[in-house]
Amino acid sequence: MGKTFKFVGFAGSSSRPSRTRNLVEAITTTAAKRIGATTTIYDLNEIHPSLGSTLDPSTAPLDLVELIEAITNADALIVGSPVYKGTYTGLFKHLFDLIEPKALKDKPVVLSATGGSERHALVLDHGLRPLFAFFSADIVATGVYATETDFTDHQPSSAALLSRIDRVALELSWRINTARDEFPEPLQILAQA
Ligand SMILES: Cc1cc2nc3c(=O)[nH]c(=O)nc-3n(C[C@H](O)[C@H](O)[C@H](O)COP(=O)(O)O)c2cc1C
Repeated sequence: MGKTFKFVGFAGSSSRPSRTRNLVEAITTTAAKRIGATTTIYDLNEIHPSLGSTLDPSTAPLDLVELIEAITNADALIVGSPVYKGTYTGLFKHLFDLIEPKALKDKPVVLSATGGSERHALVLDHGLRPLFAFFSADIVATGVYATETDFTDHQPSSAALLSRIDRVALELSWRINTARDEFPEPLQILAQA
């Protein structure tokens, strides 16, 4: 039997209900269904107050250590943040500030965000993409940005958003199916470099 892949979603929102969490969950479960992966979704509520009160990762409480381990051990990471003041939330960034620079190298990462306005859609490319490029993550080309009109009762509902979710789920499953250990030998050597 083949490996069961683990997909982890993290939403940098503290709202309940949260459009961002529901978007991250929709992307994660849609992609996971394609390849039979397991899913775990987190948001800021699950890690409060540990995240905000930890300045040094070596003193992180157990729940924060477990979240960091879940993220770093995931076969794919699906992140999302509401736009606050033009970019991702402060605690979203704080979590990744606590993660080792090499911990996400080559990890497939899907970027998503929700905002009140279409005007901040470039948060994907001006905020999230540079952060995960810093980590040398394997960022999936398509990102997902949605505003309030794309949701009904905080759940993704517009045809455009659902189609975008399907698109990014497909791209992520391609990434997973061409995992490095399935490459022919010369490419395996490159992948290990
Ligand atoms: C403190 C705060 C700042 C916000 N700043 C922006 C912003 O700069 N641009 C924008 O488009 N929406 C902004 N919004 C709206 C949220 O991004 C939007 O409602 C988002 O979908 C909320 O996600 P959630 O349901 O996960 O909390 C802001 C909301 C809050 C509470």
